Amino acid sequence: MARRLEGKVALITGAASGIGRATSLLFAREGAKIVVADRDLAGSEQTVSQVKEEGGDAVAVQVEVTDAGQVEAAIQAAFNKFGRLDVLFNNAGTGERAVSIMDLAEDEWDRVMAVNVKGVFLGIKYGAAAMLKAGITGSIINTASVAGLVGFAGHAAYSASKAGCLHLTKVAALELARSNIRVNAIAPAFTATAMVDELTSASRDPQRARQKLAQVIPLGRLGTPEEIANAALFLASDESSFMTGAVMTLDGGLTAQ
Ligand SMILES: NC(=O)c1ccc[n+]([C@@H]2O[C@H](COP(=O)([O-])OP(=O)(O)OC[C@H]3O[C@@H](n4cnc5c(N)ncnc54)[C@H](O)[C@@H]3O)[C@@H](O)[C@H]2O)c1
Repeated sequence: MARRLEGKVALITGAASGIGRATSLLFAREGAKIVVADRDLAGSEQTVSQVKEEGGDAVAVQVEVTDAGQVEAAIQAAFNKFGRLDVLFNNAGTGERAVSIMDLAEDEWDRVMAVNVKGVFLGIKYGAAAMLKAGITGSIINTASVAGLVGFAGHAAYSASKAGCLHLTKVAALELARSNIRVNAIAPAFTATAMVDELTSASRDPQRARQKLAQVIPLGRLGTPEEIANAALFLASDESSFMTGAVMTLDGGLTAQ
């Protein structure tokens, strides 16, 4: 059977761990060459090793997604190393410790907004420009969250930033539609990655806190990074060719209530 991303090049941010790593492995199995982009270079190199162990091709690039120069350089690295860029997955993201708006420090707000909104903006700005210049009809995917669809008390910056990511997705989709560059978002709920570990480790009983998160989900469990990667694969592939400006919600039924 033909592989679903044969001949394509994908740049994935936040690919040193979690959803980004699982997506790197899946995209590579489906024939894509991967630029593993993250501020954590050691983690990115581990992802590259795992891709190569499975027979795929990947390169690690260190990038701080809030830095325009570094984002532009990472995009350029895709062209330098693999000659093109077909899929850009703006997946790097960060959260904040649970606090009320009254107790949320201004610099914490700025930090979360910078990574989750500005980081995605810079990815689209430089990624789309490079695709247009090269005449490539690509796919851009942004990782939002269910927190961008409904409010999560205690996570004002994260919720607002992910709502911003969703609107940015829609505007980019409209601006790029006639160039046939599609822009879509995924909105996962609690997924078993380092981000959830961080969220629950702040609690006195992390195991119990994790169980409580799972109980909030109608399917009764956390998502896996591989389940989220499957959605990204659909959006990256030509199977989603009539889809742009859309949000794929992967939340075990959380927002159906
Ligand atoms: N895990 C969840 O429950 C969940 C739910 C909804 C959405 N998300 C989103 O999924 C995405 C991936 O997160 P994950 O769950 O895989 O967590 P993760 O912590 O395993 O991965 C996040 C990655 O992003 C990288 N990163 C963070 N800030 C960066 C920056 N400024 N520049 C470059 N790289 C940076 C980290 O180094 C890390 O490798 C994030 O956007 C997150 O908000 C996660």
